[in-house]
Amino acid sequence: MNVIEMQGICKEYKIGQIRLDALKNINLEIKNGEFVSIMGPSGSGKSTLLNVIGCLDRSSAGQYILDGTSVEKLSDNQLSEIRNQFLGFVFQSFNLLGELNALKNVEIPLIYRGMRGKQRKQLAEEALEKVGLKDRMKHLPTQLSGGQQQRVAIARAIVGNPSVVLADEPTGALDSSTGNTIMELFTQLNEEFKMTIVQVTHEESIADYGQRIIRLIDGEINKIDVK
Ligand SMILES: Nc1ncnc2c1ncn2[C@@H]1O[C@H](COP(=O)(O)OP(=O)(O)OP(=O)(O)O)[C@@H](O)[C@H]1O
Ligand SMILES: [Mg+2]
Repeated sequence: MNVIEMQGICKEYKIGQIRLDALKNINLEIKNGEFVSIMGPSGSGKSTLLNVIGCLDRSSAGQYILDGTSVEKLSDNQLSEIRNQFLGFVFQSFNLLGELNALKNVEIPLIYRGMRGKQRKQLAEEALEKVGLKDRMKHLPTQLSGGQQQRVAIARAIVGNPSVVLADEPTGALDSSTGNTIMELFTQLNEEFKMTIVQVTHEESIADYGQRIIRLIDGEINKIDVK
């Protein structure tokens, strides 16, 4: 089953008189349980595409169906609901809250769901265990290495059992060996827990961890490499 289906997705930005087509006629299907990489040069539209996939931004034209739901028709409130229920996000700069320990950071998406404290804590502990940080739950972000902080962010992304985990340059702030351990974690989450992962990267060695590589040039899909 396809968790993501896009037909003719376009995204244009207007700055004054100038129109910029950041995405042009994107047709894309991503199956449940796939691990996909989006690659391309700077400015080719990778983040724009991921933001549309992640319902953080709306397309200008085309049709996007996420897990059976047609996204165009939804209100802003419904979009944030969809993000909370169906999507997990991982960012280059981790985006953890500095004053909260690892466990509390991972609980955040569940707080937005209105889940009770005890159940929240249990799910957050399980997510931290999955990313290998069982023994770091009480640590603040500043008391963790970059790779560990990204693991906490990944635990936060997966804690609500989303349909898709979206990651924009998840290894961009890490040295290459730490970056590889994050990719091994993604591979494990994909194989063991069948998680669907869509990541953006501009590094070929990182993209290689995906089962397919979608190559963007100038807002268009130039080529899809299947392994
Ligand atoms: N909010 C915006 N307003 C206007 N133009 C934008 C906006 N966001 C992105 N763009 C333009 O859209 C194009 C695609 O940008 P995008 O951020 O998707 O590129 P990218 O492939 O993620 O690049 P990078 O590798 O540098 O992160 C760029 O030309 C950019 O200048
Ligand atoms: Mg980008």
